[in-house]
Amino acid sequence: MRAYDIIYKKRQGYSLSREEIEFLINGYSSGKIPDYQISAWAMAVFFQGMDDQETAYLTEAMARSGEIVDLSEIGAKVIDKHSTGGVGDKTSLVLGPLVSAAGIPVAKMSGRGLGHTGGTIDKLESIPGFCTEISSKEFLDNVRSTGISIIAQTADIAPADKKLYALRDLTATVESIPLIASSIMSKKIAGGADGIVLDVKTGNGAFMENLEEARELAEKMVRIGRNVGRKTIAVISDMNQPLGYKVGNTLEVEEAVECLRGKGPEDLRELCLTLGANMLILAEKAADFRTGYEELTDLLDSGKAYEKFLDFVAAQGGDIELIKNDDLSKADKRIMIEAEDSGFVSSIKTREIGLCAMLLGAGRDNKESKIDYEVGLELKKKIGDRVNAGEPLVEVYYNKEDRLDEVIRRLKDAFIIKKEKQEPLILIYEIIE
Ligand code: URA
Repeated sequence: MRAYDIIYKKRQGYSLSREEIEFLINGYSSGKIPDYQISAWAMAVFFQGMDDQETAYLTEAMARSGEIVDLSEIGAKVIDKHSTGGVGDKTSLVLGPLVSAAGIPVAKMSGRGLGHTGGTIDKLESIPGFCTEISSKEFLDNVRSTGISIIAQTADIAPADKKLYALRDLTATVESIPLIASSIMSKKIAGGADGIVLDVKTGNGAFMENLEEARELAEKMVRIGRNVGRKTIAVISDMNQPLGYKVGNTLEVEEAVECLRGKGPEDLRELCLTLGANMLILAEKAADFRTGYEELTDLLDSGKAYEKFLDFVAAQGGDIELIKNDDLSKADKRIMIEAEDSGFVSSIKTREIGLCAMLLGAGRDNKESKIDYEVGLELKKKIGDRVNAGEPLVEVYYNKEDRLDEVIRRLKDAFIIKKEKQEPLILIYEIIE
């Protein structure tokens, strides 16, 4: 077998066999097949797609490229959550401690930023001292003692996905249903959770821009989960504007903390409660959605979820005094972008918002780039809000001037203001079980 022939076959639109997919994935993991051939293959998949059978083979090959974790020694059902990626999506920072406070052990492996979207691990690493790379033993010890641990995908868990994920981030091959489905499900399967709640984002800031594509992705992942015996629920949620108001690593931690203290933006809180209630159902801790939702609301409003967050951060070495005193370091240099017209915010180019945060340094340009945790954006208006000319639309937190002019120009263009009133957007479109 040769990688060239498999790339050619996919490029021509044919289905690949289990052996061909295993050959590519095993060859890539062991370093025998180089980045450039896998990039070409990923681009062929991007254009030609993959049927359910091929996607299942790919998921299995990536899950089996490393260790399959056994979480049974935790002695309770472990329910994982994963988002397909969005802008300002800080739900895991809230949900982890929230469901842990409800008695569900959280043993979660999360990712770094991908394309124009941020990643939970980069956000957690913006807390000074927080360590996302700990041994499996420490990980399980933390889950047993604190009820929660969130770590970076280790080298042992679905290493083929880890490599392919980083490659796709830099080769414009992220937005592919089979590649996203297999990437997410392979690491969730290898991560050992009994049940999985997926947050499938749709809109102009998501990898799946329209609802039909999001539904197709959600259904594909739920089918994969069912076929491997992991109960899976997918919530399709809106990403036509950033979630909450803050985008950028430290800024997002700050907003997640507000939510954990029972305040914060309504959309973030509502999405966390919806995803969390479904996690409680899968863990058999809540008889129905309403009961789960109400229990989690109490945990947010009583401060118990916030207390759990502090325990979790402390257990992984993070400085909780900075969190308690609202003293996480943010860029001192700020500039406010103001509206040029009066009217209502009718749409926001969400992908542009994500890309502007990346240009400021909140994401990576290449595999070696270092993130600037202090930079980002704070929206002052969201869709449906009334705005007068000269009023603030978005505040830019920056440290370097080199791309500032470009960011300002793109941000001005990212807010569409119209005279007609615009209804607020729906947040949750569908739940697929
Ligand atoms: N999240 C993942 O883990 N993988 C993808 O491909 C996209 C989002």
